Amino acid sequence: MSENSAHPFLKWAGGKRQLLEQFDQYFPQKFNKYVEPFVGGGAVFFHLLPKQAILIDNNGELINCYKVIKNNVAELIGLLKKHKNEKSYFYKIRNLDRNHEEFNKISDVERASRTIYLNRCCYNGLYRVNSKGEFNVPFGRYKNPNFCDEKNLKAVSIVLKDIEIYKNSFESCLNFAEKDDFVYLDPPYHPISETSNFTGYTKNMFGKDSQSQLFQVFRQLDEIGCKVMLSNSYNKFILDLYKDFKIMTIYAKRAINSNAKRRGKIKEILVLNNFK
Ligand SMILES: C[S@@+](CC[C@H](N)C(=O)[O-])C[C@H]1O[C@@H](n2cnc3c(N)ncnc32)[C@H](O)[C@@H]1O
Repeated sequence: MSENSAHPFLKWAGGKRQLLEQFDQYFPQKFNKYVEPFVGGGAVFFHLLPKQAILIDNNGELINCYKVIKNNVAELIGLLKKHKNEKSYFYKIRNLDRNHEEFNKISDVERASRTIYLNRCCYNGLYRVNSKGEFNVPFGRYKNPNFCDEKNLKAVSIVLKDIEIYKNSFESCLNFAEKDDFVYLDPPYHPISETSNFTGYTKNMFGKDSQSQLFQVFRQLDEIGCKVMLSNSYNKFILDLYKDFKIMTIYAKRAINSNAKRRGKIKEILVLNNFK
């Protein structure tokens, strides 16, 4: 572990920053390398700052940002400084991906600067693309968004120096995970109720099949002798899947909850296999 002050460089849906305090007691005291196959904004990774780690996510733009910060942070900072927090400029940058052929010609560092800029200036720091893969979050109207946090980007670059980063699906973590590694799994959550009205479903959505497939990966990691920890929503389907493992309850801040005692908080789970 190091003294570096690096922290997540993107706002990311499902980010775990607010839960770290509750997680602390469950992290393994000792492990070899750290493996995180749904890394997103990387809140847990930046909290633990392990010396050796494998970071994976299937979002190509996200993984490109990690790689560019690792290998080319000076050029990235130069490009970020040129952006402007203006509505028409924001839409000009956002719409670069409307012409797919031209967009594919853009360099990796330009793409990373676009993603970080859009993330800081768009509404709620959401990452959302339409069925054609085009970024479609509107302008956020923030007064002074910090889209070039030079100090943090440089700190992140140092932290990532010896870290392996891959754009891939979660199962690929099995190619890396070995005995005594710590694997943290933070998939897109299963909807709390079967009747929840989720209009954002796409072909790639993380449905029951993906959750079941992830459970198989969890079991295999357990058999290998990894220390495994998984976050998910609190609901029957997930509780049944992981019933043979240790399930801890976590409370996350959310806008609505009918239980007065837990007003503003919603139950989530943390599944652990047997480790100390
Ligand atoms: C809940 S978020 C992780 C949030 C992260 N823990 C944080 O603190 O920011 C889930 C992540 O899984 C990624 N993802 C979705 N399906 C995936 C798949 N099949 N394989 C790998 N990553 C996937 C998404 O791109 C997203 O970044």
